[in-house]
Amino acid sequence: MTETLTIRRPDDWHLHLRDGAMLAAVLPETTRHFARAIIMPNLVPPVLTSCDAAAYRSRILAALPEGAVFEPLMTLYLTEATDASDVAAGAASGLVKAVKLYPAGATTNSASGLTDFDKVRPVLEKMAEIGLPLCVHGEVTDDDIDIFDREAVFIDRVLDPVRRTTPGLRVVMEHITTRDGIDYVKSQGPDMAGTITAHHLVINRNHILVGGIKPHYYCLPVAKREEHRLALRDAATSGDTHFFLGTDSAPHPDPLKQHACGCAGCFTATNTMSVLAELFEQDGALDKLEAFASLNGPVFYRLPANQDAITLTRGAPVSYPSKIDTADGPVTVFDPGFALHWQVA
Ligand code: NCD
Ligand code: ZN
Repeated sequence: MTETLTIRRPDDWHLHLRDGAMLAAVLPETTRHFARAIIMPNLVPPVLTSCDAAAYRSRILAALPEGAVFEPLMTLYLTEATDASDVAAGAASGLVKAVKLYPAGATTNSASGLTDFDKVRPVLEKMAEIGLPLCVHGEVTDDDIDIFDREAVFIDRVLDPVRRTTPGLRVVMEHITTRDGIDYVKSQGPDMAGTITAHHLVINRNHILVGGIKPHYYCLPVAKREEHRLALRDAATSGDTHFFLGTDSAPHPDPLKQHACGCAGCFTATNTMSVLAELFEQDGALDKLEAFASLNGPVFYRLPANQDAITLTRGAPVSYPSKIDTADGPVTVFDPGFALHWQVA
């Protein structure tokens, strides 16, 4: 008997699609399974205004594979120059679904990010007033803070103070990688949420560093110790409404990953649903997959859950491409390191 699992169609609450030829190459990998995605604004130059977001949205729609039904949920890149009234107008029109906070220098294309948080106070206050979520890349960038501690320190130095000084601000701590992040989000009310990637449920820092350096497992925030991975697994498979899927699928061409100064990012769009089903099955939590991938995110973003469904079937090991061809070179698909048995029908 074939084992099957039918869930509402999932969404991806943190996705990098890039632009141009890369956008065209990676978009089908997401639209095959996901109905909607929160689209990260870290283009070069970044998506700064509602006008930029509208133009980027049009480019995404123009690149959709034929027949695909997919809604890009647009975000703005928060800088010290962001205009609160532009944010409010973008949100009121339905175009802008969140604003993204990158600490300056935290990750790929974050050079325009924040250094002085006081400068964005009017924007954050406006967002609290209108209920527009702030998505945060939760890492400090201070040279004296060890890279493995940057998420925990961010909670104490930035996230918690911002939440205390801006009551009512709705915040998503994105791509959580530590027990500290999980515990903080869990301790907060329904105006705080956290996204978790598929790859951080699979790898710990040994996967990157033991037996030779593995550039395709390098992303930011960097994977931490095993105890942290286990805390992420517990949170994702618990059904707790604070937590939902944000793949952080982030394509970089192989020549820039396999490099003396390799780019950060794992490309997971192709096999995320197969990976998640395998993990939730291992943890005896297949009944919680729908909450994590399809239900908790829409509740937080105050959007309806998708009406249609996907069916996953369990069988012989699934084959998926190891690389996606793009005009900029091949992009390596995340290798979880074990066979996947669940496939979206
Ligand atoms: C992302 C990218 O490549 O844009 N990289 C990553 O390692 N996750 C940026 C980000 O989300 O940090
Ligand atoms: Zn990201």
